Amino acid sequence: MCGIVGYIGKSEAYPIVIKGLRRLEYRGYDSTGVAIIQDGKLQVHKKKGKVAELEEAVLGKNMHSHIAIGHTRWATHGEPSDRNAHPHLSNNGRLAMLHNGIIENYAPIKKELVLKGYTFKSDTDTEVLLNFIQDIQDNNKCDLEEALRIALKRIVGAYCILLIDQDDPETIIAARKGSPLVIGIGKDAHYLASDASPIIEYTKEVVYVNDYEIAIVRKDELILKNLGNEKQTPFIQKLDMELAAIEKGGYEHFMLKEIFEQPDTIYDCLRGRLLHEQLEIVMAGVDNNIEALTKASRIIIVACGTSWHAGLYAEYLIEELCRIPVEVEYASEFRYRNPVIHAGDVIIAISQSGETADTLVALESAKEKGAFIFGIVNAVGSSIARLSNAGAYTHAGPEIGVASTKAFTGQLTVLAMMALKMAKFKASITEERYVHLVNELASVPEKVKEILNNTSVIEKIALKFKDAKDFLYLGRGYNFPIALEGALKLKEITYIHAEGYPAAEMKHGPIALVDETLPVVFVATKDMYYDKVVSNIQEIKARKGQIIAVASVGDLVLPTMSDNIMFVPEIDEVIAPLLSVIPMQLLSYYVGIAKGIDVDKPRNLAKSVTVE
Ligand code: F6R
Repeated sequence: MCGIVGYIGKSEAYPIVIKGLRRLEYRGYDSTGVAIIQDGKLQVHKKKGKVAELEEAVLGKNMHSHIAIGHTRWATHGEPSDRNAHPHLSNNGRLAMLHNGIIENYAPIKKELVLKGYTFKSDTDTEVLLNFIQDIQDNNKCDLEEALRIALKRIVGAYCILLIDQDDPETIIAARKGSPLVIGIGKDAHYLASDASPIIEYTKEVVYVNDYEIAIVRKDELILKNLGNEKQTPFIQKLDMELAAIEKGGYEHFMLKEIFEQPDTIYDCLRGRLLHEQLEIVMAGVDNNIEALTKASRIIIVACGTSWHAGLYAEYLIEELCRIPVEVEYASEFRYRNPVIHAGDVIIAISQSGETADTLVALESAKEKGAFIFGIVNAVGSSIARLSNAGAYTHAGPEIGVASTKAFTGQLTVLAMMALKMAKFKASITEERYVHLVNELASVPEKVKEILNNTSVIEKIALKFKDAKDFLYLGRGYNFPIALEGALKLKEITYIHAEGYPAAEMKHGPIALVDETLPVVFVATKDMYYDKVVSNIQEIKARKGQIIAVASVGDLVLPTMSDNIMFVPEIDEVIAPLLSVIPMQLLSYYVGIAKGIDVDKPRNLAKSVTVE
């Protein structure tokens, strides 16, 4: 939610910051802005719209400076507009600040400031915090760092801020609580950003700033302090990421690239863990905590969106294979309904970004109550990864397209390995079934490749139904979470209303929606429910609904019921979601493209939802 970039050093700052903002656009893209200091004067340029629109607006302007901060916004307070875009200027015109997060108690502070004569050009909470800092500095006659410290102790909410002062053009001051900040250490230069993607081509040495820390950043100096003004030792880490991983590599969209990367990302996730020949699964985070995991009286899975769908898959999986009760919770609900959590409970948190505020806050409160947290996260070093007691990375690499694809299959892969490992340890699965499922899991990368080798049928189906107003997605058992995921993908990147439902539940209400205009997508691969799903298809056909089906290769029945069949290779039903989700992703992608939507940056969305 909002991307921030800063640079101070020997090079031209503006091009570095703009390039960084383009990399972070996935975090929000309703307005963009930069601030530089030129000959001792602050200059702020900002514009509603994407980064390209700002670039065009400053074309021909002198942007020469060795210091710059930039922001790409996902609106929280105030509509997307030029005046609400960041950075904001303080009333005295000396300070510029940008912010990712939400200041929850901004309203009373604003009231105080208005009474003192402050005026506001925007509707944002950020401008309130900035003027609050100015006010503290004026009243206390202290330096900016001290004023910031005092202000941060008063505010409630989440923030990552970058602040510059035209009277001190050699310093960027940054602070974080709840919204990510990473600082790259270059030669006579420092780079600041919401994630490492703007930094990667300049340096591999980074420091992840912790909550409640303030960074004073100069060309050749990085000082970290806590809110008590005590110096902290920066923990320098090596970035394990290549530039190619965050570029499009010849694909038209990141989403398509990421869909097509899945044979490799699933393989990378399995590599070194699923030892196929030895029929063993080695996962340090699981191995070291196998007692806690398998003796859990209950596993609670906490996640949002697509990651929640992975959690729902895990409920079916862990209950069947490990015989441990599982509950799947929407993080935003879990946090605020005062859930009962016992010391022996295990919480599994699933998150691509590792920064989702709802999930993070839910975990913090569960941890306080003594729960053991196991994180399944994609973004290495992210807040959720650091908060977890143990975990497993999905190793899908940076996911840039807003709609989650390869991170989701990474989550399913980790969950499948984890469940198999736990089931073997508990002896809740027969050796024969274990061996069979290990073999099936190992076959997934090649089978995904087979699906991706022939996407033309899916594209044709997408073109046929692109103008539909609604879609229904139905599935049962392990394919039910995939029906939900298919519907979510369609909503996100095509703006078509879609609903996911358990196939049998549909007759208890949604069947009233069915007429000859309604496309109904059945995830109907060969599994224990297959015959029942076929009956559900008949029920829809009888009401003239348009059937689209995901079927197993070799199925001779479904092609007699519909012309719109997307085949996937046969696989055990426990592993089937790893295959059946691929046509769902592609169907949405092709409909989105046919409708002319920017599928990597659909309206109103952001990749990393760092506000509650
Ligand atoms: C959908 C999507 C979102 C995320 C959700 C959670 O394509 O990407 O629904 O899954 O915002 O995000 P993470 O997994 O980063 O916690």
